[in-house]
Order: sequence, then structure tokens, then C-alpha cells
Amino acid sequence: MSNKIQVSEAGFSDLNKIVACHQAAFPGTLSTKLGLNVSRKMLEWYLVSDKRFLLWITDGARCLGYAGGMIADGTQVHGSASGTIQYAFKEIVRALIVRPWLWFHSELAARYSLIARNLYYRLVRYQTPVSKRQEFITPHVSLIVIGVHPEFQGKGVGDQLLKAFEQKSIALGYRRLSLTVLANNIKALSAYNRNGWQIVERVGVSMRMEKCVEAKL
Ligand SMILES: CC(C)(COP(=O)(O)OP(=O)(O)OC[C@H]1O[C@@H](n2cnc3c(N)ncnc32)[C@H](O)[C@@H]1OP(=O)(O)O)[C@@H](O)C(=O)NCCC(=O)NCCS
Repeated sequence: MSNKIQVSEAGFSDLNKIVACHQAAFPGTLSTKLGLNVSRKMLEWYLVSDKRFLLWITDGARCLGYAGGMIADGTQVHGSASGTIQYAFKEIVRALIVRPWLWFHSELAARYSLIARNLYYRLVRYQTPVSKRQEFITPHVSLIVIGVHPEFQGKGVGDQLLKAFEQKSIALGYRRLSLTVLANNIKALSAYNRNGWQIVERVGVSMRMEKCVEAKL
């Protein structure tokens, strides 16, 4: 790959390229099937709070890969799933009206309770009390999403993003990192493993992994 490749923090003007990469990296997923507006809004969510960030890697023209992170310190009203749903709520509703067959998409069908909870937040009470789990949370940075364009997978882009994610977390003052990955996502598990992440527990169909970044003198 060329020398022009660089990882940096994304801004609003980079979103279109990152959305294109997201849709290529996650074909067939609900967020991709819901269309460009929903994907864009969900990625924009990382840019509108100083507790979140979006990194991307570019060759100067295209987005080769991206990673989104969130500080989990117990102060956020919602976690990442409800947070993005609330932020992209109008776009999701519009997309589901014009694509009603997506109500039966496996990801949505498996998350009806999450949808019901989010309708409640939206229609009845947005400000939910900080949960007990959040009160006692050990502050850390969560890797919420990482995607590499299929044309650039297997070339070290994922490794570069994971290293940049660690550096950003350290810059924010955190050394403890966490993520959740589907247990059948062998490629992702292998990339995380290689980068020093360890499985701490299985939660349903997913694995929760953590990494504690060493202090560099
Ligand atoms: C998971 C994912 C982010 C990994 O990114 P990636 O860029 O393919 O990962 P890497 O290139 O760093 O590593 C992948 C493989 O390429 C190899 N590799 C790394 N650098 C390389 C290079 N310069 N040349 C050739 N191969 C290389 C690695 O050894 C690794 O092989 P291994 O899995 O057998 O150990 C990517 O596959 C992806 O976007 N998948 C779809 C979306 C997804 O599932 N995201 C995660 C869930 S949120």
C-alpha cells in the first residue's frame, strides 16, 4: 500500500467516505440495509460528543477502514446500542416505513426488546436513571465498531486501526479497553487476539474482550 496512508480522527466532512466503507465492510447487516442516511447518522453519533470518537484510515482518496469508540465511565444516559438508535431515530423510522420487509431482518427480530425500550425512551421518558451497572462500572474505553473495506482486508489495516484506537484511549487518559464481538466472527477474533485482547466472558452469542494497555515510559 502507498505511503500516503494515514490514520486520523474523522470529522463531518469525512463521513460520506466512511459510510461507503462501512456499507462495504458490513454487507447484509441491518444498518447497511436501512440505507445511507441511517448509516451516516449512526456514524455521526461518534462525532457529537467528547465522550466518543471516530478514527479512519485513508489513502488520500478512499476510506480503507474506520473504528468508533466511546468512553464508558457511567455518566452516559445510554449505551452504544440505544445511544445510536436514539440519535438516528427519525432516519430509522423513515427507512423502516419505506422498507417494511426489514422488520423481519434477523438482527431486528432478535432485538425487539431493545426496540421496545427505545420506543419507551422516545415516547415516554428519554432520561433513564443511570443503571446500577453503570454506577459501578470501571471507567474504560469501548471499541464499538471497526470495519475494513473488503478490498483492503488482510493487509494490516485492522492492526493499524486497533493500535490507533489504543493510542487515542491513552491520550484520553484510559488504559482499560473493552469490546464485544460475535463469537462466530473468526476474522475479528483473530485480529483482536493478535493485538493482545483477551476473552473475559461469553454473553449470549457474543464474546466480551478486554485489553489493559501498558504504560509507556
Ligand atoms: C475484522 C477486521 C476489522 C480485521 O481487519 P483486517 O484489516 O482484515 O485485519 P488485518 O489485516 O490487520 O489482519 C487480518 C489478517 O491479515 C494478516 N495481515 C496483517 N498484515 C498483513 C500484511 N501486511 N499483508 C498480508 N497480510 C497481513 C494478519 O496476519 C491477519 O491474518 P490472521 O487472521 O490469519 O492472523 C476486518 O476483517 C473487517 O472489517 N471485517 C468485517 C467487519 C467486522 O466484522 N468488524 C468487526 C466486528 S465490529
